[in-house]
Amino acid sequence: MPYRMTVIGTGYLGATHAACMAEIGHEVLGVDVDERKIEALRAGRVPFHEPGLEELIGRHVASGRLRFTTSYEEAAEFGDVHFSCVGTPQSARGYAADLTYVDAVVERLAPHLRRPALVVGKSTVPVGTAERLATRLVELAPAGELVELAWNPEFLREGFAVQDTLRPDRLVFGVRSEVALKTLEEVYAPVLGEGAPTVVTDFPTAELVKASANAFLATKISFINAMAEVCEASGADVARLAEALSYDERIGGKFLRPGVGFGGGCLPKDIRAFMARAGELGADQALTFLREVDAINMRRRTRTVDLARELCDGDFLGRRVAVLGAAFKPDSDDIRDSPALNVAGQIQLQGADVRVYDPKAMDNARRAYPGLRYAASAAEAIADADVVLLLTEWEEFRSLDPETLRERVAQPRIVDGRGALDLERWRAAGWTYRALGRP
Ligand code: UDX
Repeated sequence: MPYRMTVIGTGYLGATHAACMAEIGHEVLGVDVDERKIEALRAGRVPFHEPGLEELIGRHVASGRLRFTTSYEEAAEFGDVHFSCVGTPQSARGYAADLTYVDAVVERLAPHLRRPALVVGKSTVPVGTAERLATRLVELAPAGELVELAWNPEFLREGFAVQDTLRPDRLVFGVRSEVALKTLEEVYAPVLGEGAPTVVTDFPTAELVKASANAFLATKISFINAMAEVCEASGADVARLAEALSYDERIGGKFLRPGVGFGGGCLPKDIRAFMARAGELGADQALTFLREVDAINMRRRTRTVDLARELCDGDFLGRRVAVLGAAFKPDSDDIRDSPALNVAGQIQLQGADVRVYDPKAMDNARRAYPGLRYAASAAEAIADADVVLLLTEWEEFRSLDPETLRERVAQPRIVDGRGALDLERWRAAGWTYRALGRP
């Protein structure tokens, strides 16, 4: 049955969740404190790049099933279920997550909750947060114990957010009552009907599933990147190595792509927050390996800079460097902790004339790194370059033609930071091709 629900926080997670809840039949009110974001969404515009999302939002704004507001009072009045989808960035003072926004949702929403309601947390939070929020909710809500909390972590990937929400690999329900479980099952009925497995559990387990999933993924990437380092030292080829490993079903090929490493708004800060929380709980030893995972990942960026410098005969001064990619991964305009921009920035600081091009992330990149120079196209970035770096594997870059490109550069030298190009083809076209961990 259709629910009247709110989705609080309309960033990548919230905007997608709101649109998908409308898509499966619910009446949804999206809530955000950012007036400009709400105005844009009301007009059916999505303030970031996520394939398929704008169309979905447009469709349901038009159908009337999806509306937006900045008022918590209106939200409390409207919804029987409230999803909290706000961000948990790394705090300015250390590794821990900043819970300001998560706390603010409860502090601002609860005082208006006058009838039974289920508040559902989806944000990635340190284990123990749900327990604390549940108590606070009952303290603050006029309806008291009739207001309940559930924890339902989100696993969506940027670039596949709509698909991951409508057809998730699994749903995790952290609940404390039958009523809460029944409500979540009804809310997600169409998704469950498609066969998504469900894990029903307590709050801390639900919170930990998310933290450990991200820790595992980060570890897998850093594992293959550590192998790249050993390959480099021994003259082996990490691309062939990864391929061979991938045929082992126990290992699998996903998240085993070597390169410049992981970035984005989730993996880097989530593994750090996880370590910080384990420390608070006295279990820091269990996660010391994540320090190494983080260190391997950060080393990829410096190592990519080193490789590019080697190709420039040991010195960046007076060299022109083309950087293809600014987003932390393709099909996204998100530049948070982007390896591409980090590398571009380091190279520029070492005296090169760096030109960056990305199909979607130019505006975000310009805002965050105003000191870098930006090109209007890949061709412009590449013109007269002494070395080209491919750092985000957009399809547009994968399909670049080495023959045509060679005419445009000063020196045909390329660093493939994502293992995205065909080594033989590029070398046959006269390029000096280098990739981390490949001979
Ligand atoms: C991630 C998780 O996948 C998702 O489940 C979670 O909810 C949020 O964090 P996302 O940040 O969108 O999602 O990106 P993801 O596709 O996981 O990629 C993360 C980073 O790892 C990217 O920078 C990507 O380029 C890099 N990566 C990924 C690799 O370097 N190698 C790989 O094999 C896979």
